[in-house]
Amino acid sequence: MGKITISTLDKMKASGDKFVCITAYDATFSRLVSEAGAETILVGDSLGMVLQGHDSTIPVTVEHMEYHTQCVCRGNPNSLVIADMPFMTYANPKQAMTNATRLMQAGAQMVKMEGGTWLSDTISKLVERGIPVCAHLGLTPQSVNALGGFRVQGRTPKEAKSILADAVEIQDAGASLLVLECIPAHLATDISEKLDIPVIGIGAGAGTDAQVLVMHDLLGLSQHSARFVQNFMEGQNTIQSALQAFVAAVKAGEYPRDEHTYL
Ligand code: KIV
Ligand code: NA
Repeated sequence: MGKITISTLDKMKASGDKFVCITAYDATFSRLVSEAGAETILVGDSLGMVLQGHDSTIPVTVEHMEYHTQCVCRGNPNSLVIADMPFMTYANPKQAMTNATRLMQAGAQMVKMEGGTWLSDTISKLVERGIPVCAHLGLTPQSVNALGGFRVQGRTPKEAKSILADAVEIQDAGASLLVLECIPAHLATDISEKLDIPVIGIGAGAGTDAQVLVMHDLLGLSQHSARFVQNFMEGQNTIQSALQAFVAAVKAGEYPRDEHTYL
């Protein structure tokens, strides 16, 4: 696998080849993830939960993300590294530019932010200045308190319409990628077909251009895991082979299945 760039991912979308994203937070696991063939690595603010033990991602700071992004980038041979912008570090464009700069200088090739229409201005300002953006819609964990829990989004026609409108708007603003989390499969498929940019799903069914899982979930290490999680350690003897099994299952269209999907 040569060095992955956004053009690689665009070409994969165009040819209908699924790509894979796995979270990593340190050098060793980022090497394993990349060697397993995942085109992209997400330094997720999920680290607030799986590494730090918090019950949400809200306590994560830009210092934490900077540190883990540096660790991941040292270990990564050739995947594209996306770093999450933490809670309230991109509340306005100026703040977003300052904090995104830190993550890019830590080695990330793209930053990810949760939100739709209200982020358009921020996205276009970052993109104009050379910082590619991945947006994140649906269940946006940094808004867990506003959403009233970690719940499936986009189930009513009104919510579905607003997620689709947000997706189109962030693409128009210049986003390079979009993560859709915990929405009905038909909605995620519709958005993936309507957008030109690649869409990465988690709990969003099999119709997206790519899949992402939190490393600890796919290795079966999490205490409570959601419906969409499959434990890829089952039937494997090593972490390396579990990561490869996830990559292979996504590419073969064998994950996610109906039992992992919301209607
Ligand atoms: O923080 C994270 O790991 C994420 C993924 C679940 C998409 O945002
Ligand atoms: Na995240």
